[in-house]
Amino acid sequence: MSLLIKNGTVVSDGQRKKTNIYCNDGVIKAIGNDLDVPSNTQVIDANGQYVMPGGIDPHTHMQLPFMGTVASEDFYTGTAAGLAGGTTMIIDFVIPGPQQNIMEAYNQWREWSEKSCSNYSFHVAITWWDETVKADMKTLVEEEGVNSFKHFMAYKGAIMADDEIMYNSFSRSLELGAIPTCHAENGEMVFQLQKQLLAQGITGPEGHPLSRPPAAEAEAANRAIKIADVIGVPVYLVHVSTEDALNEITQARNNGQRVYGECLAGHLLVDESVYQDTNFESAAAHVMSPPFRSPEHQTALWKGLQSGNLQTTATDHCCFCADQKAVGKDDFSKIPNGTAGIEDRMAVLWTHGVSTGKLTPEEFVDITSTNAAKIFNIHPRKGSIQVGSDADIVVWDPELSKTISAKTHHQNIDFNIFEGMQVKGLPSHTICNGVLKYANGTLMAEKGSGQYIKRPAFQPVFDALGKIAKANKPEAVKR
Ligand code: URP
Ligand code: ZN
Ligand code: ZN
Repeated sequence: MSLLIKNGTVVSDGQRKKTNIYCNDGVIKAIGNDLDVPSNTQVIDANGQYVMPGGIDPHTHMQLPFMGTVASEDFYTGTAAGLAGGTTMIIDFVIPGPQQNIMEAYNQWREWSEKSCSNYSFHVAITWWDETVKADMKTLVEEEGVNSFKHFMAYKGAIMADDEIMYNSFSRSLELGAIPTCHAENGEMVFQLQKQLLAQGITGPEGHPLSRPPAAEAEAANRAIKIADVIGVPVYLVHVSTEDALNEITQARNNGQRVYGECLAGHLLVDESVYQDTNFESAAAHVMSPPFRSPEHQTALWKGLQSGNLQTTATDHCCFCADQKAVGKDDFSKIPNGTAGIEDRMAVLWTHGVSTGKLTPEEFVDITSTNAAKIFNIHPRKGSIQVGSDADIVVWDPELSKTISAKTHHQNIDFNIFEGMQVKGLPSHTICNGVLKYANGTLMAEKGSGQYIKRPAFQPVFDALGKIAKANKPEAVKR
């Protein structure tokens, strides 16, 4: 199948140029003004539009079994919604239960994800530790193309990783050339605050943000960063939601440490006032962790993206419908944590980032695609428009507009945290593996057409870091 995208302004790898792109067999074969293409080539005229690498959402949870229920969005519906919004790849999470064999969990997620219609990959959570986990991490890196391991510092009594698990897993990640990632919130602090608030009679969703103060995130961010520093391994913090956690990242980066930060479209655009809604359904629909924050934090997150101290944007797409959220009617700590966004991430970031002048189109491409590809070691195969890159492309019409609504979105959830938001700048076409999947409002998502993407270990950088870490070790122990 061959495809020509002509007359568009191609934005990729920090550059912008009006040109044509020829794709065949799922790969970009030629870029230039006078391309000779076969007569049966499908043509998209992108005049007046941007042509960019397809979005990569590095943080989703399709059909996640979590807090006594299972996320309503599965790998088919979720990746289809992503394609409608310009996202051609997700990195989801394998989350083994306490003591569950890691490979068994990984195989289970691989089976669930076979119905994906965009490309996908997995971070694997380390939720417990023993010698089998250590051995399985090697298998995952060397045979399965997993180069990132996730640590939930929250969710005590379920999937929380304590310092011992983190120390062991971070050390193993360094040996294997993988990057540790962290959900940074002090799980013990959250647990104690939840108990205290419930005892005081605060049982509604307004208790959720009170139980997860910015300090709980800052402390965990600092701890994760310091553990990574002592070990000498890079670290990636997911869903950074506070100025305090961002400051920890910025300070470490200024000290030369390789620390990366992700922020969510939701945290940039929705504030904590949603938890004061007296309508339980609406307030509970916004329960996610870390919670939505006050406007000062949102301002700081935008600045983090502008300064480059936050490199990626994600959604943490984790859908629970009203009947699922209702389980926590009398106890906010039981409301399944999670909100949606995969379909809207790129449009809301364009509207509130590029159209307001906060971000250039080049920076938009970096934070929605390229940086994730680089950090998770799949660039320039992904996140780039170059000859030889995979043909995962979004044709972006800056003049298209719509009003976001749960009534019209493709996501399998009855609520949209961006409900009523007017966005201007939307995909006109989404191409995944060289095949047109979305065109002018029509979704052509084919169950099972997505590819599992192996992500190689980080050899050269980690070799150097390993040597540095070894050299530093005695001194670090002495301190
Ligand atoms: O509330 C959230 N974020 N739910 C999904 C699990 C996680 O913490 O990422
Ligand atoms: Zn999380
Ligand atoms: Zn998550």
